Amino acid sequence: AAVPPFQAEMPVPPVLRPARSTHGTDHYELVAKPGTAAVLPGLSTPVLGYQGSFIGPTIKATRRRRVAVTYRNGLTEETAVHLHGGHVAADQDGHPMDAVQPGEKRIYLYPNEQRGATLWYHDHAHHIDAEHVYRGLAGFYLLEDPVERMLPLPKGKYDIPVMIRNARFDTDGKMIFEWRDFFGRDTIIVNGKPQPHLRVEARKYRFRFLNAANLGVFKLSLSTGDSFVQIGSDGGLLPRPYVTPAFQLLPGERVEAVIDFSKYPRGTRVIVKNEYAFTPETADIMAFDVGDPAPDRSAVPDVLRPLPALGPADRTRQFVLGPDAEGMPVINGKSFDMDRVDTTIPLGSTEIWEITNNDVAQPIPIPHNMHVHLVQFRVLSRNGAPPDGGEAGLKDTVTVFPGETVRIQATFADYRGRYLYHCHFLDHAAEGMMAQLEVV
Ligand code: C2O
Ligand code: CU
Repeated sequence: AAVPPFQAEMPVPPVLRPARSTHGTDHYELVAKPGTAAVLPGLSTPVLGYQGSFIGPTIKATRRRRVAVTYRNGLTEETAVHLHGGHVAADQDGHPMDAVQPGEKRIYLYPNEQRGATLWYHDHAHHIDAEHVYRGLAGFYLLEDPVERMLPLPKGKYDIPVMIRNARFDTDGKMIFEWRDFFGRDTIIVNGKPQPHLRVEARKYRFRFLNAANLGVFKLSLSTGDSFVQIGSDGGLLPRPYVTPAFQLLPGERVEAVIDFSKYPRGTRVIVKNEYAFTPETADIMAFDVGDPAPDRSAVPDVLRPLPALGPADRTRQFVLGPDAEGMPVINGKSFDMDRVDTTIPLGSTEIWEITNNDVAQPIPIPHNMHVHLVQFRVLSRNGAPPDGGEAGLKDTVTVFPGETVRIQATFADYRGRYLYHCHFLDHAAEGMMAQLEVV
């Protein structure tokens, strides 16, 4: 795509207002339907979106206050909506078995008993979820923890969600969806606009970066060479900040980082680079244009949030991500089957999962990103070494590069029933790299 970067202003997705609030519960209404979006300059792009919008509206939830979302399916195909990172009952998890048919609606209940975190919601319909998410069915769900409100981190309009993804466009502005089109999706889109820029005041901001791409791999760094102060990961705040010049963001993952623009003179352009670029067009993600200094009482404290204790594990399991005999992406040699339970877990148990990526040959080695529903887990080790500070918090999605073995630990508590685990390269998941666990 030959669109020059930093032309469009980066929008911030609107916050959805509750249709009504009752004691302890906020009720929302969302409809998944076709729409059009102004993504590329001068062109109109057909999309599928919540409220018909290319990025769904942001739902802001508060810990221990329930959310009930009435989803109406205004598509011509079935849909299911999954709250990614949510700790919810099996029948509220948007399982593809539990689809909402065209014209119908259903209510999903989210208890929000879990810790505060940057969650997101997206389509999870069977086999067509990859294309649905690609066409726009994704939005932020920011779960705020009242305890964290006391921290002096940047707040309000200085706390901004940033959804990064990519797509391939034809010359009319239509998005082209082809399976495993890794190198074809060469337009980077941030909050619905191609490589936008954002005017910032010369002070600190908190950004909640999400990779909502099906296949895109990003590694973010700043053109100034300055570091990010990473404060959060998938499951919310880290125990302590992690200062890093770059961080990778693979599909489904979130990284929260504070950037301090106060050191830059007015007029400075700070570009967010993509170190995993495969063409010159994919080398830039977005830019910040620094304006006037602004009062700033925010700070990043040395201690953010202690982690829950890591208890002893009840058992260890092995998972191998890689191709089957036909070269299709699968887990432990088996393609997804809705009628099969792959992993049975007694309620309340703590498990270590050893996840190996043996996708080393293929035409090119392929990374995978393992996502487990229901839980937030800890990364114990990556190839035997302890995780870095950015991976030391709670995660629900973890990158496993070809040849790597990553060990994670999770406790499967509170809910019985069937949940999915899968690669969050959604094209891979839809082709079979997905399986079911059942908590019994
Ligand atoms: Cu983000 Cu099974 O999903
Ligand atoms: Cu994969």
